[in-house]
Amino acid sequence: MASFRVLLSKEQIHQRIQELGAEIDRDYPEGPVYLVGILKGACIFLADLARATRVPARIEFLGISSYGRGKTSSGEVQLTKDLDVSVQDHHVIIVEDIIDSGITLSYLIQLFKQRKPKSLRVATLLDKPERRQRPVKVDYVGFQIPDEFVVGYGLDYAEDYRNLPDVCILSE
Ligand code: IMP
Ligand code: MG
Repeated sequence: MASFRVLLSKEQIHQRIQELGAEIDRDYPEGPVYLVGILKGACIFLADLARATRVPARIEFLGISSYGRGKTSSGEVQLTKDLDVSVQDHHVIIVEDIIDSGITLSYLIQLFKQRKPKSLRVATLLDKPERRQRPVKVDYVGFQIPDEFVVGYGLDYAEDYRNLPDVCILSE
């Protein structure tokens, strides 16, 4: 049977996101900035992060799949939904749920560079630095976490558990 241990409570997450929002406001005094959520994992983080900023922000989504139903990346990243607009000459922040191997993010950075934004930064709720296979630069990190598989607050295991309000360690 699956069991869950709370790693980050919804209160801790809320508090940290307010800090990240304030950092973004400081970094983009003139705005506007495109917050691009990577579906589906980042949708809940994006919704809270957007409301923690005061800078004029626009919301976009990009869909990718790399995981299938397992706990480790297939290593193959596929675009499942592209942006609806051009972000050329605009500030862009890629909003991710978690950086694990870094394979997904390095793919995304290549993709976005081709779109010629004015600037490109990355925000992630969670970072598992021990697991990195590709070096990637992350500008806004909510929490660094140990090498454990987590679910909740948007993160899934085989599409389940995204609606848990806390980030929990899943064990079976
Ligand atoms: P990466 O390409 O290995 O960095 O994987 C990034 C993606 O893998 C994230 O966007 C998540 O969808 C997924 N992922 C990585 N670690 C976890 C985890 O602990 N729980 C749920 N999803 C994860
Ligand atoms: Mg994801």
